[in-house]
This record gives sequence, structure tokens and C-alpha cells, in this order.
Amino acid sequence: MAFELPPLPYDYDALEPFVDAQTMHLHHDKHHQAYVDKLNAAVEGTEWADKSIDEIVANLADLPADIAGPVRNNGGGHFNHTLFWDWMTPEHGQTPEGELAAAIDDTFGSFDDFKTKFEAAGVARFGSGWVWLIRDAGSLSIVSTANQDSPVTDGAEVLLGNDVWEHAYYLKYQNRRPEYLKEWWNVVNWAKVGAAFDA
Ligand SMILES: [Fe+2]
Repeated sequence: MAFELPPLPYDYDALEPFVDAQTMHLHHDKHHQAYVDKLNAAVEGTEWADKSIDEIVANLADLPADIAGPVRNNGGGHFNHTLFWDWMTPEHGQTPEGELAAAIDDTFGSFDDFKTKFEAAGVARFGSGWVWLIRDAGSLSIVSTANQDSPVTDGAEVLLGNDVWEHAYYLKYQNRRPEYLKEWWNVVNWAKVGAAFDA
């Protein structure tokens, strides 16, 4: 069973004005589709074609050398973007609630302090990559990764991530990555993040 592009869980313009419809079309239909296609090409005819994407990303160290690079990049791209679409919502302006909100306050000082630190980590990521809220050994932290790497490969749980590749924001925000990171909070699906935190 080949890997498939999941449909967007909302309309392309559902995140306007914070993320524009043209970016969503290109990001989902072109970029994510390309990761899926290249992943399928890389694993075709190998035992890896029958594994779940979660299993692949958690076990990159076991990949044979001849497909390790393409699977890491394109498998990571498929895995990260599949999560990413679900971390955004047409219900704009959500904030963390319940135990997640308490854990964010305990760890980072306040929700505002958390956002500031997350944005700073996203700005500091040189080139292409992601910024994450992760849970590892029961503790929350903010990390960033290069390219399509995921903290899941190192055994952490990703609770939230933002894509800081230029393809995620350049049409609307051009070189203003800090502004994109700040506006992105408007579309975060904190209900989803909270459910994962509680699980
Ligand atoms: Fe992306």
C-alpha cells in the first residue's frame, strides 16, 4: 500500500488571513505531494514500503544506506506535514486549556513566555526546518530541527510544530519569518494539542 497525501482537514482559505489560500494550495498539493511521491519511489520494492510512516520515522537508523537519505527527507516531510495540517484550525484564536495550560505555565513561566521562546527558536533555525514543542521523559521543551528531521526519531513526543521552511510563509510574509511565527498562533489547534497532551 503506497503512502498517500491526506486531504486537508479544512478549506484552503480557512486559515486566512494568517495563512493565505495560495500558500496552502502549494504547500499541501505540491510540496507535501512531492514528499509522498519521492517517499514511495524510495521504498518501492523494499520491506519499508509496508511499514507505517510513524514506524519509519522512529527507526531511521535501521534504513539501508542506499535509501537512508531520501527516506529521511521525504518520509520526514510526509510525517511532519501530516501532523502540521491537524495542528491548525479554522477556529481562530484558541489558547491552551486545562493541564496543558498549567504545564506550559510551570515550564516556561507563562503562555506569553512560551510563545516568545518558541518564536525565538523558529527565528534562530538557520535555513529550512521546524520548531517544536516536545515532551520527553515527562518534561516539556522547545527544540528545532533542520530540514525534515523530527524529534520523534530521537524518542521524543511532538505535541506541536511549526514549519519554518520558506515555502510555508514566503508568498505572504516574504523574508519576515518572525511576523509569520507571531501570526501563526492565531490558527493553532490547541484543542488538538491538549488532547495529545492528556493522552
Ligand atoms: Fe512545509
